[in-house]
Amino acid sequence: MNLEPIVQLTVHNKRFGNSLVLDNVSFEIGSGEIVSLVGPSGCGKSTLLRIVAGLDTDFRGRIRFLHNGEEVDGNVGFVFQEPRLLPWLTVAQNVGFGSDHPEADRPRILALLEEVGLGDAADKLPKELSGGMAQRAAIARGLFAPAPGGNAGAEQGSAQRILLLDEPFSAVDAFTRIKLQDLLIHLARVHHLTLLVVTHDVDEAAYLSDRVLVLGSNPGRILHANHVALARPRDRRDPALTQVRNDLLEVLSQSHAI
Ligand SMILES: Nc1ncnc2c1ncn2[C@@H]1O[C@H](COP(=O)(O)OP(=O)(O)OP(=O)(O)O)[C@@H](O)[C@H]1O
Ligand SMILES: [Mg+2]
Repeated sequence: MNLEPIVQLTVHNKRFGNSLVLDNVSFEIGSGEIVSLVGPSGCGKSTLLRIVAGLDTDFRGRIRFLHNGEEVDGNVGFVFQEPRLLPWLTVAQNVGFGSDHPEADRPRILALLEEVGLGDAADKLPKELSGGMAQRAAIARGLFAPAPGGNAGAEQGSAQRILLLDEPFSAVDAFTRIKLQDLLIHLARVHHLTLLVVTHDVDEAAYLSDRVLVLGSNPGRILHANHVALARPRDRRDPALTQVRNDLLEVLSQSHAI
């Protein structure tokens, strides 16, 4: 796949105190591409996402967001492992949180909720939602709102949206997870989103991704990039997917052994 790059990430190094967490991690992400990050716990996956989101600027390196070859401000949304909805706000208010014009934005918020299957839940409180519903609301918020780091590009409307997801489905049951994975792929296609997804689940990585980056730890670095050149929609029982998953497990088991 030869896609126009919309993110170029170069992290020469990232330290917390004396500890080197990321060492020479560089990659590009193409427009509309779905990239997963897998690797052992503590290898720096969440740190990397926070750097891309602009939530952590204390590293040596550079991040460039591109649009038609020109450098632009990032237009980044973030979906966390747990939904992080504010309990005193309705679902619609949570999705539109941070909007300067919540009333004017309400039709767009309701349309997003409809898309994620929460058309009837706009005025419910988070405590009235199941875990899967809450994570759908978090995805709608990730589509609507800029990441908390404040990326001005969302206002400009020029840069393409990149959605960063940090183990987004790890707290839901297997059946809900499958439905949310398919929802995410659908939304990515309809909204022409670019996705960077952290997951511990190699099946999820293989099924979702155009490319899987395997990170090793101490310090975090890219060990392996696996292109998943399988047409969509994909069949979860496709032996080719099983092969991708087995290849990933092989690299991961080596990375744990280091
Ligand atoms: N704010 C922080 N201060 C100090 N050290 C941190 C901080 N955040 C992360 N670390 C350390 O940086 C390393 C990478 O953490 P990170 O959360 O990025 O790992 P991860 O790959 O996301 O792990 P997991 O799969 O368990 O979520 C870990 O050793 C962690 O202890
Ligand atoms: Mg993490």
